[in-house]
Amino acid sequence: MADLNYQKPNGFSPDQQGVDSSWMLHAVALAKKGWGRAAPNPMVGAVLVRNSQWISEGYHNGVGSSHAEKVALKGLEGALRGTTAYVTLEPCSHKGRTGPCAQALVDAGVSRVVIGTLDPNPLVAGKGIDLLKNAGVEVSLGVEEETCLDLIRPFAWRMKTGRPWVHAKWAMSADGKIASISGDSRWISGVESRAWVHRLRGGMDAIVVGSGTVLADDPMLNPRPWGNRTPVRILLDRKGRTPSSCNLAQSVLEGQVILITNPKAPKHWKQGWRSKGVEVVEAEDGLNVLVEIAQSRGWTEILIEGGGGILGSAFAVGLVNEVHLFVAPKILGGLAAPGPVGDPGITKMLYARMLRLMEGQICGPDIRLRYLVEP
Ligand SMILES: NC(=O)c1ccc[n+]([C@@H]2O[C@H](COP(=O)([O-])OP(=O)(O)OC[C@H]3O[C@@H](n4cnc5c(N)ncnc54)[C@H](OP(=O)(O)O)[C@@H]3O)[C@@H](O)[C@H]2O)c1
Repeated sequence: MADLNYQKPNGFSPDQQGVDSSWMLHAVALAKKGWGRAAPNPMVGAVLVRNSQWISEGYHNGVGSSHAEKVALKGLEGALRGTTAYVTLEPCSHKGRTGPCAQALVDAGVSRVVIGTLDPNPLVAGKGIDLLKNAGVEVSLGVEEETCLDLIRPFAWRMKTGRPWVHAKWAMSADGKIASISGDSRWISGVESRAWVHRLRGGMDAIVVGSGTVLADDPMLNPRPWGNRTPVRILLDRKGRTPSSCNLAQSVLEGQVILITNPKAPKHWKQGWRSKGVEVVEAEDGLNVLVEIAQSRGWTEILIEGGGGILGSAFAVGLVNEVHLFVAPKILGGLAAPGPVGDPGITKMLYARMLRLMEGQICGPDIRLRYLVEP
């Protein structure tokens, strides 16, 4: 059993810790180049450094391509004595599709490996570090750990729970409305925020909306321009309110569409959607079946784009892991104008769902905020 109790590199001078941090942050930036491509694998970056000089680097670009360490090591095997490898995630020790990366680092002659965070994959979980240490390689764990953990949250969540990581996104006015009193929401946020959302869509396995949003906005829900992946677009409509003439049903050739509905919804209405090439799934509990679909298809990340009805349901059952919020400098008013999260069943402050702020950024005229939902 691996000893997971490794210490941060506090045996080094503050200077060395600063040096380790800055090379690790470079590896983090590399890892992010694999965003949207790496899944279902985690994003990983690696940098090789000797005598304070950059030697090589790599990142993981998705299933079937080399791991970050292997990309960085290419052509340098055996010539790396005295080299430090900075890797955002513990190098693997299992064979996988390629040989173990920890062994490759040993074989290449790397003297020290600085690791951001442990691999949550039970096949690895400390074994990569053991392999390195047993081969006499010096190992430091936990450099820029929070930042490195943030790279792999969806992957780690799926490893731990078997469930997809669920993002929620909404744009709201400064007074907390996602549409005007007449239901008009185009556009609350500015061009920059909308471009950001399109990039987010391009890294998702699936995008989900409720029937109210399709009736109000008739969205396409595809990333524009196309991103690294083509998300499956999913509509939840229990009662059969949404016409099969909507943009989602009309655009199945551009990407798969799934309708999740209730078995009691009208038969002819379901047939109308099927005739457009939409996959119709019937279930009493729409959100539960959404998770089952994600699990059976190996999806890692889902984005719920609203509206308030579906997000209220999703928060009520604790489905949401991460929130992307855009606050526009507008006041919409109207007591009956909708807010972003319908009714999650919270009656007292004590039961408020707690969020942890991870990022805040000016985005054109808006503010973009990224939160994790506290468990
Ligand atoms: N600003 C933004 O970012 C943003 C984003 C999206 C939408 N909007 C706005 O929000 C408004 C629409 O909000 P909304 O609350 O009416 O619509 P919604 O959340 O898109 O849809 C609500 C419907 O979703 C279905 N639903 C909810 N929970 C469900 C569950 N657990 N299982 C299965 N189905 C479930 C129900 O369909 P049934 O009725 O069939 O039961 C419910 O009526 C529009 O004005 C739109 O413009 C704004």
